[in-house]
Amino acid sequence: MNVVITGVSRGIGMELARLALDKGHKVLGVARKSVQLAGDFTFIEADLMDERAIDRVVKALNGWDRVDVLINNAGVARQGDSREGFLACFELNSIVPFLLTKALLPLLKNSKSPKVVNVSSLMGSITDNNSGGTYAYRASKAALNIINKSMACDNDWLTTVVVHPGWVKTDMGGPEAPIEVAESGAGLWNVIDSLNRTDSGHFYDFRGKELPW
Ligand SMILES: NC(=O)c1ccc[n+]([C@@H]2O[C@H](COP(=O)([O-])OP(=O)(O)OC[C@H]3O[C@@H](n4cnc5c(N)ncnc54)[C@H](OP(=O)(O)O)[C@@H]3O)[C@@H](O)[C@H]2O)c1
Repeated sequence: MNVVITGVSRGIGMELARLALDKGHKVLGVARKSVQLAGDFTFIEADLMDERAIDRVVKALNGWDRVDVLINNAGVARQGDSREGFLACFELNSIVPFLLTKALLPLLKNSKSPKVVNVSSLMGSITDNNSGGTYAYRASKAALNIINKSMACDNDWLTTVVVHPGWVKTDMGGPEAPIEVAESGAGLWNVIDSLNRTDSGHFYDFRGKELPW
């Protein structure tokens, strides 16, 4: 499969890329900090908050006839709930996945079984929010969830989902998180591999359980 993953320099994105490469997939990864991974891997150094970044990713895919899986994983949290915090969260967590998916629709359309996986968070679930706080991050993931639903409605040939990776031990999740990246990454790939058209527009955790909005 031909796979595009954002945020491959560490954490969940790097694990997802490693697992894909181990399975023999071709992977194009994007992040600001350069990383080299074993296998058929191309790295694009880009700050996705820079409006030219999407074009650079599209250009880097020039020789690809199709994209089978796009994983919008790059994300930001802990920017606080200031104006700047809100703007950063919305830009990277909601707007970039939308723009990148839109830009890659022609290549996704060439796949027999195209999938878009937007890495959201249970923090973006309104039903699950019983503790409050974290306004900017929660709102940006809730926005990603509804963007995903519209993408699913508008593209009946595409399987596009939002996933919650669990609370994972990464720079973002912190050392107290109960789930290792290896468990989250393996679970997410099980979910991705088993997705079919009827799953489009839905919200799953890394164990495949459907989550409430
Ligand atoms: N960890 C958790 O417990 C948890 C829970 C729920 C949801 N999530 C979601 O899972 C996803 C991955 O989280 P993580 O825990 O792996 O986070 P992480 O360890 O902080 O890694 C974030 C990744 O995103 C990339 N990134 C950040 N800003 C970027 C930018 N402006 N341009 C390009 N790439 C950028 C980073 O690379 P560079 O810094 O090199 O650019 C890094 O590769 C996020 O969407 C997050 O919201 C995580």
